[in-house]
Amino acid sequence: MAENDFVKVAELGELSPGKMKYVEVGSDQVLLANVDGTIYACDNVCTHAFAPLAEGDLDGEEVECPLHGSVFNVTTGEVIDPPADESLRVFQVRIEGDDILVGPPAG
Ligand code: FES
Repeated sequence: MAENDFVKVAELGELSPGKMKYVEVGSDQVLLANVDGTIYACDNVCTHAFAPLAEGDLDGEEVECPLHGSVFNVTTGEVIDPPADESLRVFQVRIEGDDILVGPPAG
């Protein structure tokens, strides 16, 4: 994806606070999460054994993997609880009207 490419992936109405949604952005599998009204985007694929995090549980900023229970912070990608030991990538998010756009990985 080019540096400034942002792609519409969903609308705000599809993602109420506390909810997650799986979307594809190019070849990336991305997890959208609504944390108290702010939308965050990170990798959907758990860094431990590749389970889909969108099928796990979101509690505030923390998503728990459905397979072995690793916990990640969706706003930073950081591992909170093992067995995963590698962070998720976090993607840039832009809101335009009702549209949620996802851009390149942050940092
Ligand atoms: S696949 Fe996510 S904790 Fe094992």
